[in-house]
Amino acid sequence: MPKHYITFRDLSKDEYYHLFERTRELKRERRAHSYFRPHLGGRAVALLFSKNSTRTRMSFECAVNELGGHAIVLNLGDSQWARGEPLSHTARVMSRYVAGVVIRHDKEAELTEVAKWSSVPVVNSLTDERHPCQVLGDLFTVTENLGGQPLEKQLFCWIGDGVNMANTWLEAAAVLGFPLNLAIPEGYGPDPDVLRDARGDNPQIKLCATPQEAAKGAFVVTTDVFASMGFEGEREKRLKDFKGFQVDSALMALAAPKAIFLHCLPAHPGEEVTEEVIESPASVVFDEAENRLHAQKALLEYLIPAL
Ligand code: CP
Ligand code: NVA
Repeated sequence: MPKHYITFRDLSKDEYYHLFERTRELKRERRAHSYFRPHLGGRAVALLFSKNSTRTRMSFECAVNELGGHAIVLNLGDSQWARGEPLSHTARVMSRYVAGVVIRHDKEAELTEVAKWSSVPVVNSLTDERHPCQVLGDLFTVTENLGGQPLEKQLFCWIGDGVNMANTWLEAAAVLGFPLNLAIPEGYGPDPDVLRDARGDNPQIKLCATPQEAAKGAFVVTTDVFASMGFEGEREKRLKDFKGFQVDSALMALAAPKAIFLHCLPAHPGEEVTEEVIESPASVVFDEAENRLHAQKALLEYLIPAL
């Protein structure tokens, strides 16, 4: 059975600490211009998309190439998947061609179905429910800023929509054990099962009444757009419902003295976060975007065995 990466819970705490170390080495090597690794030995990895992407598309294609493989990028709308081919067929066919499959698609249940039939690893590169590759890179970024302090002692806070990113932060808190405060507008809560299970594993997960309460003393302050992909039609309503949930300098001032600001990007400066915060020294959003590449190299290397 191949090892898949559909949810953050698919790897253990030990495996994450291994990946953080490997990511650090791969980042160092790339900066020293000695990054070509023959790990994939010319094998292909499929990158399938039914939603827009800049970072994921580019970072995975670089990652595959730098691991000595080549990427087949396919818009799902152009594939037979979109015309209703049984996913049990698609998955078995892809497994005959490629060493791994990375999928960005709204319906996570379809990824799970592909994974069930695939004999090569399947990686979730964003669904409406989760975005584990993002949180993997984000956590590595946090480790770069810890100054020797233990990750699981840092207070994280999530401000805003209880969307794929919030669900994944909940799962990360469950696996890694760090305290997590969430401030989410009424009616936009995370997946109730994800929340219940995460709280079952980590009693330090707290739903806060206000962003101010959530941010108080936090080392990591993070948010996401008010209207994610697929929810653009609700934008006007959400702008009203999310009033007061903007990350601004006053909110950052409540966080820990050396707090960092994370955002998966793309951002809408002036909506969920001010231009001032995103451009401030506390903001590590561009390191975070870069780290997707290094972390995904470590992930692919781990999931896809060497020849
Ligand atoms: N953060 C992220 O996944 O960005 P893209 O949508 O550009 O891939
Ligand atoms: N929550 C956002 C994340 C984008 C990377 C979305 O799903 O659009």
